[in-house]
This record gives sequence, structure tokens and C-alpha cells, in this order.
Amino acid sequence: MSVKRVLASAPAKIILFGEHSVVYGKPAIAAAIDLRTYVRAEFNNTGAIKIEAHDIRTPGLIVSFTEDEIYFESDYGRAAEVLSYVRQAIELVREEAGANGRGVTVSITSQIPVGAGLGSSAAVAVATIGAVSKLLGLELSNEEIGKLGHRVELLVQGASSGIDPTVSAIGGFIHYEKGNFEHLPFMELPIVVGYTGSSGSTKELVAMVRKTREEMPDVVEPILSAMGKVVEKAREVLLSDLDDEVRFARLGRLMNINHGLLDALGVSTKKLSELVYAARTAGALGAKITGAGGGGCMYALAPERQSEVATAITIAGGTPMITRISREGLRIEEVLP
Ligand code: MEV
Repeated sequence: MSVKRVLASAPAKIILFGEHSVVYGKPAIAAAIDLRTYVRAEFNNTGAIKIEAHDIRTPGLIVSFTEDEIYFESDYGRAAEVLSYVRQAIELVREEAGANGRGVTVSITSQIPVGAGLGSSAAVAVATIGAVSKLLGLELSNEEIGKLGHRVELLVQGASSGIDPTVSAIGGFIHYEKGNFEHLPFMELPIVVGYTGSSGSTKELVAMVRKTREEMPDVVEPILSAMGKVVEKAREVLLSDLDDEVRFARLGRLMNINHGLLDALGVSTKKLSELVYAARTAGALGAKITGAGGGGCMYALAPERQSEVATAITIAGGTPMITRISREGLRIEEVLP
């Protein structure tokens, strides 16, 4: 069937345990959440790639731009970074489809804040690959699209574990290790995400950890190994038939340990730590950074105290988001024949 236009969407994610150590082959656990990026792809007859973005949420402000003309009221660098993921994604899919000279126009809207550690780049890459591959007649599974998303991240970021595009493409909860994933049983987790309002660059933070590891392997390797052990323990707790009270208390303690280890790697900030401690003081069972750090988001596990924790995060100067885990990953929303 020849297709004229495709609309696809892909979700944001949170890393529950194991960010950064996952880049060095340790396991991690992530979940898709119900904020989505929408990408519409259609042919144009110029042979070129055209990208339009509206409502791309960079910290605090909303940016609209086209490739030639950029209207921005906030961080231009972050907005431009989004373009590089989209461009790489389109080029990769055109190459896979043997359609290099084919003109493609892509239009993006997103509910996911850019640079918040919620996987906006991965979601934009996955939704673009989903929409453009369908447009060009490629039949790819969500898992294959996740792998192409990983290639896009490697091209743009230089280093990436692939967990973000995988969970965005697949959805639900995943345990991820060295490119392989296992779906964990779906469950509602009583979490609150707290946004610091500032952004961190995954590329820079991953490079910073890499440099410290190269300079001090004897110090950094045990931290990364401990993070791997935290993840395996968390997987055991998530798969156990413990009652919720015990299960959440253990997960909370593991989150706090994981936060301490991330702090030791140098990816926390004063604001992130303030939000983490505010959440714990307000009754969260655990709280930690989620994603690359350096700004961005933390999350707290707060059964029965979500509202108090959200208030504490606000008082500490953050923006709370009570969000739900999304079962669904990449979704083709509409195909116009
Ligand atoms: C970013 O969401 C997670 C990192 O571990 C980078 C990666 O896994 O590619 C910091």
C-alpha cells in the first residue's frame, strides 16, 4: 500500500535504577511514562529533508521553529539539539529503505520537556523513525525501531546504552542490559517526578563520568558495580510476591542508595539534591535522580503521600508531575493512504 502521510507518537521515560552504569554494560530498569512526542511525516517533492517543530518544550518555555527560521525564546542550543536527532533519524531510515533522494517533511509537537532527563531526544528519534519508516514502506517491529533509535543516539551523542530509545519504542517496564531487554510485569508505581527547571546535557554528563572512570578506574569501577547490584536487587523486589508495604519500603531504600552513588559520580546538583531531600522529608520512601542528571528531574516513591511530596517539591523550587507508567511504546496514530 502506498502511503501519503503518517502520524506516530512515542513516550517519555524514567530510569528507575541504574542510569550511567548502564553505559558500561551494567543492568538498568526503566519505564515509559504518559507524556508523548508526536511526529507527522509526509513526502515533499524537493528531495530534501524538512523539519518543523512546534511546542518543543525547552526549560520553562515553548519554542517553535522550522529548519531555516528558528523562533526561540529560550535555550537555542537545546532546541537545535532536537533537530539533530530528527535529521539523523530521517537519514538513517532513508538509507535503510534505499530512498536517499526522497523528500520528506517531518512535523513535531511534544509534551516532553527537553533536557529534563525524561528521554525527549529518544522519543523524538523513535517517533520519527516510526513515522518515516512507515511512510517509506519499511515494515519494522518496535524492537527494531528501538535499535535504530540507539544508532541515532550513538551518532548524535557519541555514547549511549540504548535504554532510552528501547523503552520508548517498547513501552511498559523493562530490565535492560547490553542491548537486551526483558519486560517486567506491569504495575502502577506511586511516583512523583520533580523537575528542577534546568536542563542537563546527556552527552556532556556521560562524557564527564567516562573521564572520571578513565582517570580513576579503581575508584569508579566499584561504584558502577554497586549500581549494578542495586539494579539486580530492585529487579528481585519488583518480581517478588512481597506485599506492597514491604516491597515499596525496599525499593525506596534502593533508590536512596542509587542516588548516593550517582551523587558520588558527580551528576547531582544542589537543586536536584534539595528536591530529593524535600521529598524524603515529606514522607517519600525513596527519592533519586532520574536520567543523566546535571539538572533535569528526580523522582520519589510516595505511596499514600503523593500530594504532600508534590507540595514539598514545589516549596523546594521544583515542578512536580504526578505521572503514570505507560504500557504503550511507539504507536502509529494515523496512516493516510
Ligand atoms: C540517560 O537517560 C541515561 C544514561 O545512562 C545514558 C544512556 O544510558 O545512554 C545517562
